[in-house]
Amino acid sequence: MSKFPIEQFRSTVTPFYYYDMALLRRTLAEVCAHAPQESVVHYALKANSNPALLRVISAAGLGADCVSGGEIALAVECGFTPKKIVYSGVGKTDREIRLALSVGIDCFNVESVAELNVIDELAAEAGVTAPVAVRVNPHIDAHTHHYITTGLSENKFGIDISQLWDVVEQVRRLSHVRLRGFHFHIGSQIVSMQPYRALCDTINKLQDELEHRGIVTDYINVGGGLGVDYEHPDEHPIPDFGSYFELFAQGINLREGQVLHFEPGRSIVCQCGTLITRVLYIKEGLNKRFAIVDAGMTDLMRPALYQAAHKIENITSQGVAFVYDVVGPICESSDSFGSAVELNEARRGDMIAIRSTGAYGESMASRYNSRELPGVMLSE
Ligand code: LLP
Repeated sequence: MSKFPIEQFRSTVTPFYYYDMALLRRTLAEVCAHAPQESVVHYALKANSNPALLRVISAAGLGADCVSGGEIALAVECGFTPKKIVYSGVGKTDREIRLALSVGIDCFNVESVAELNVIDELAAEAGVTAPVAVRVNPHIDAHTHHYITTGLSENKFGIDISQLWDVVEQVRRLSHVRLRGFHFHIGSQIVSMQPYRALCDTINKLQDELEHRGIVTDYINVGGGLGVDYEHPDEHPIPDFGSYFELFAQGINLREGQVLHFEPGRSIVCQCGTLITRVLYIKEGLNKRFAIVDAGMTDLMRPALYQAAHKIENITSQGVAFVYDVVGPICESSDSFGSAVELNEARRGDMIAIRSTGAYGESMASRYNSRELPGVMLSE
């Protein structure tokens, strides 16, 4: 029996994202079972902000990691409690900051002194004190694609450790911001635990220095980044949250009253999503056979943008396998989902599943070429 409701797919307009809600629930149950006591797991909405998924995630008790006013509003609408919302981003606008202040979020993850000053000013205007954490750039190589590595030196994210004490001093000088603690994020799709161990060491050293300087904080946010198995989604539908959380629980020397915060995005939603598309044409080239499908880079940007490889399956054909370049209809050569992909013999009308697309798939879709946004089907 197929893992997909093929009959239901047949009568549905393609392309669309199919979400396996049972898998999402099982994934969340794993997260809740393994997250350290006294920690808060904030789901990173940027990975997928489909309201149906957000409601299930908030109902599981997770908090939210937002990067825009739009995400904050959506998180509140979908049931996340403001006290568990954190707000990151290098370019928060005045409007967005005001919204976050009025909602009463848990923490602003601040990325520059300039931003800190504006938050202070707007908090004063609103007659409140804004809780802030300083985002530290820990110079750790996460060994992932360079577009999604964020913790290395001199990129736009975070504050260099060498400049940290000036920033902490600045927080102390300002009267409408209160230092909660520190925020880190070293990158995304991290599949080795080694960068996370390095992060724990950096945090422990920083904590010693803080103690030495008499600075007390209650918030340590280690960001997100836990990777998923794009090659074997059926063998590894749920990432190893046990090892991941254990590493931090053991690795970080928390002080009394301190709470660990996490911001996983991809690891929660990636494997529950599949992009379903239909074969429009088979085109026999000189040396290649193309399967031209009705989904394009507007529906799933990752292959075009990061050379990301997703497992591709022909879910309607039982025919012998042939090798295809699976390409979309957009007028760009980068509009390809994979070259030399082995698929069961494909014919016009066959349904193709592009797997592990629950994260950064639907949320990054665009309307380039005046195309419609992809549809959505939930398993329940
Ligand atoms: N926290 C911060 C501060 C982040 O910048 C990110 C992701 C996360 C948490 C969540 O990371 P995750 O657990 O999902 O790895 N569009 C790219 C990924 C961009 C990630 C951006 N930051 C992709 O499709 O691979």
